[in-house]
Amino acid sequence: MLIIVGSGRNGNSLALAEYVKKELAEDRIHAEIIVPGNQRIHLCTGCMDCDESGVCDFTDDMKMDIEKIRKEDTLMFITPTRWNLLSGDLKIFMDRLNPLYSRKELVGKKGIVVAIGAKKKDMYSSNAASDSIRDFLESSGMECPLVWNFHECKEADALSYKTEELKKFMEEVRKNV
Ligand SMILES: Cc1cc2nc3c(=O)[nH]c(=O)nc-3n(C[C@H](O)[C@H](O)[C@H](O)COP(=O)(O)O)c2cc1C
Repeated sequence: MLIIVGSGRNGNSLALAEYVKKELAEDRIHAEIIVPGNQRIHLCTGCMDCDESGVCDFTDDMKMDIEKIRKEDTLMFITPTRWNLLSGDLKIFMDRLNPLYSRKELVGKKGIVVAIGAKKKDMYSSNAASDSIRDFLESSGMECPLVWNFHECKEADALSYKTEELKKFMEEVRKNV
């Protein structure tokens, strides 16, 4: 599994990725974590050259990321909720997946989506964050068997106190890898 973390801080999104990686290792399933916000990734200009060539004109860390995605059957996207939306880091990353999208190379892969926000569940703040990633995955021909929103996670370590919810989440992940 490739876990794509949409926050650059050493916070809840990265902690969740590390937790999933550790849990899967017990099942002998390998997971790798990438943090696009800490990589060198140019903004997509929308030139659409990759629609024809299947290759982006930029040479940056997306070359390596795209090769990793090609090799994986399952991707997990973890975004912090930002202004009720996904993080900019992840949006920039997703735009740069157009070479894979245009060649239908994402078709049939599985995508698990997680949003982590500070607000309470009844404020529905994280819904659009996770829904927008799920919509992208489904429009790319990927299956999206699991979407999960964690709420009330403001401080960087807030998720670590949600031990019961983390276990439930992990049970669902295991059903889908
Ligand atoms: C610019 C910014 C905007 C945010 N907007 C929201 C929001 O709309 N809803 C919400 O629930 N939390 C919001 N948050 C809080 C973060 O989602 C929350 O702290 C989350 O745990 C951050 O994940 P991280 O620890 O992986 O960075 C926002 C945080 C930042 C920095």
